[in-house]
Amino acid sequence: MKENEVKIKNSSYGIYGIGYTDKISKKMLVEYGIPGDLVIVKEKDEKSSYTFAKIKKIVEKSSYRDRRVFCPHFWKCGGCTYGDISYKNQVKIKNDLLNEMLKREGLKIEQTAFIPSEKELGYRLRTKLKINRDGFLSYSKLRSNKLVAINNCPVVTDGINKVIKRFNAIVEKSGRLSKRLKEVEIVEGDNGIGIHFFIYGANADIKKRVTKIIKQLGVISFVISDLEKANFVVGGRKLIKNIGEKEFKFYPASFFQANGDIAYKIAETIKNYIELKDIGGKLLDLYAGIGFFSGYLQKYFNKITVVESSPYAINDIRGTLKDHKDVSYYEKSVASALTYINAAKARPDLVILDPPRTNPKPYLFNNIKKLKSPYIVYVSCNPPALLSDLKLFINDYYIDSLIGFDMFPNTYHQEWVTFLRKKTNHSAPEHQKRR
Ligand SMILES: C[S@@+](CC[C@H](N)C(=O)[O-])C[C@H]1O[C@@H](n2cnc3c(N)ncnc32)[C@H](O)[C@@H]1O
Repeated sequence: MKENEVKIKNSSYGIYGIGYTDKISKKMLVEYGIPGDLVIVKEKDEKSSYTFAKIKKIVEKSSYRDRRVFCPHFWKCGGCTYGDISYKNQVKIKNDLLNEMLKREGLKIEQTAFIPSEKELGYRLRTKLKINRDGFLSYSKLRSNKLVAINNCPVVTDGINKVIKRFNAIVEKSGRLSKRLKEVEIVEGDNGIGIHFFIYGANADIKKRVTKIIKQLGVISFVISDLEKANFVVGGRKLIKNIGEKEFKFYPASFFQANGDIAYKIAETIKNYIELKDIGGKLLDLYAGIGFFSGYLQKYFNKITVVESSPYAINDIRGTLKDHKDVSYYEKSVASALTYINAAKARPDLVILDPPRTNPKPYLFNNIKKLKSPYIVYVSCNPPALLSDLKLFINDYYIDSLIGFDMFPNTYHQEWVTFLRKKTNHSAPEHQKRR
């Protein structure tokens, strides 16, 4: 190895490969570095124990880099990480990383697995795009305010790509819609496509222009959110999405899982755990979205409490759970709802929590522990944060299993689901028993 060369040894959670120079075994976090690469880097930012670096040249390619780059925007667009790596190798990298991360944290979990996605391309049921200065739909460049105009994104569905193309064609013909239009989110259901416009100062003129193009876009529902006044209007029909045997209906402003196959696999995995442990009675669904988990699992519980702060989503949850006889709805932040729920001493039999990527603050987990629920299922799209949160639980709960799901192929993201069981005198799994 020459003096200015770096060998990438491991992955980190994110876009960096972890590499070392020969000389002083200096640790480098190399953007887009893949285990096995030998690279020459441009050093960017020197910290006390490591240096951030960018690849200047790949001297020897990792054997994981075994396919042609699948998208012309790769290296420029900040969305995907694994442009020239086959899906089989992506799964291997992600599975190895999951195990390495647990080992680094000293967490011994009896059952771990990594579940791939059925589709590696065309899987995304929702995507949010920015508007560039000419009015075209765009994604952000990696860690930058600069934008890359997009007319086709291989990881989203064909239906969403059609709407992206139609939107851009309208802008091409008639010019930018409005400077006030900041972002657009496009969502696909089984019955058609919905669109959510994010507008700063949605005056009558821009609302008129936006509603005029809805027909041309061929969407069945729309939401116009005014970022200035924090209000919204909805129109058209709700999107319908069938997952397993359950039908969900929602407007495109509510959260719905991005990969239908993986959403199904996660819901089935939780269902199997509920059946295995014979869990029933009261369910508390925190960060409930449109009630995806409580809707899917409702038959196991005679009382369901849902907590969700979004007014869009809470409206949809009422539809999801309309056939259940006993549901309490909290349209509040989880922090605030937990004070009421704890005060009522309403001990749930199962808590499911599925926070957004900006994970909750540690004090919140104390309030979740105070619920004394015998089981907790913690779903997270932020594995590093999940690992530090799990440490807050391990005095009181055993971790029965941790399963990684590939919600977002071609990106570094993983969705982890952990199954926690309250400690009692007799409940320790063999390997977690104190000796
Ligand atoms: C990752 S999504 C999960 C949704 C749902 N569990 C599902 O599977 O579809 C997180 C949800 O939490 C909601 N949310 C974000 N911050 C919240 C907070 N502080 N309190 C309550 N809900 C919140 C968001 O609106 C979003 O619907």
